[in-house]
Amino acid sequence: MRTIAFFNNKGGVGKTSLVFHLAWMFRELRLRVVAADLDPQANLTSFFLDEDEIERLWDSDEPNTVWRAIRPLYEGEGGLQTVVPQRPDDSIALVAGDLELSRYEDELSRAWAECTDEKRRAFLVIAAFAQVIRQAAEHIGAEVALVDLGPNLGSLNRAALTACDHVVLPLGPDLFSIQGLRNVGPTLRTWRDQWAERRRRAPSKVFVPEGGMAPAGYVMMRHAIRLDRPVRAYERWMALAPEAYREAVLDKPGEPSPSIEQDPDCLGRLKDYRSLMAMAQEARKPMFLLKPADGAIGGHQAAVSECYADFRALALAIARRCGVPLPNP
Ligand SMILES: Nc1ncnc2c1ncn2[C@@H]1O[C@H](COP(=O)(O)OP(=O)(O)OP(=O)(O)O)[C@@H](O)[C@H]1O
Ligand SMILES: [Mg+2]
Repeated sequence: MRTIAFFNNKGGVGKTSLVFHLAWMFRELRLRVVAADLDPQANLTSFFLDEDEIERLWDSDEPNTVWRAIRPLYEGEGGLQTVVPQRPDDSIALVAGDLELSRYEDELSRAWAECTDEKRRAFLVIAAFAQVIRQAAEHIGAEVALVDLGPNLGSLNRAALTACDHVVLPLGPDLFSIQGLRNVGPTLRTWRDQWAERRRRAPSKVFVPEGGMAPAGYVMMRHAIRLDRPVRAYERWMALAPEAYREAVLDKPGEPSPSIEQDPDCLGRLKDYRSLMAMAQEARKPMFLLKPADGAIGGHQAAVSECYADFRALALAIARRCGVPLPNP
């Protein structure tokens, strides 16, 4: 199974919306998918489940969120519980998010340091995310896991990324997104190297994920465009993305960069789908499966078809890049 993180420390670029839509598109491509909500804001969970479903989740005693599965390990009351994933569809297993997950930050920070002392518990704590994702994948026999992360460079994301083979970076066509790459690129490399070093010290018989965190490319998200700006302003930032990605993320400064249209690292460019996104959130369905009964009437149906084609192309590009095996059509 391939595990793919959607990550950028810049907030609001569209990470959660991407994970939600790609989970459904991979299901359209006849794959079984884990969608893991590892952001304590739990926005991905609210995209999949309505308020009644979330309330039922909280009222139950099951280990049905990422935090509830991990809590006994955190509190030293036994090991990790087997997570009970939510099932918005037969082909999708959602590892529900949890606001309380932020309580784990300090422990994860300590554990990261203690891995260098070869402490068994430290490895169990860091590897908990990979274990939870693995359990959810086994539940449905998933071929791919998509991981939504919060917008920061903290210890929770660092540990969560050790569960991930690949990292996709959603970007907006603005100064902060392009500049942000200069933080996120080197940070990813440092984390990858530090984890590789720690893995070598892991006691035998302790499960430690590979944590390849290989950069798979970027997705240019255009919903963040400010309409009061001239078109040239965002075209300029968009044109800078290939070079900035090469320099900051791939650590290849000074190499000639292609245009964004020709850039193999640009996995896709998504437009602002405007009212379709609001309808999708309301219906808790992906934009590309909206029906007239969901409010997608008249001209919206053409937009729905276009959106389907955009996400299909993006999912295929990501699958190719990350080595996700696709069933024959
Ligand atoms: N392609 C799009 N078209 C229209 N609106 C979009 C698109 N992508 C995202 N949005 C909207 O932009 C906002 C931010 O998106 P989202 O929550 O996915 O970003 P995020 O990167 O996960 O944010 P955070 O950093 O807070 O986790 C949301 O209101 C979402 O509906
Ligand atoms: Mg988000």
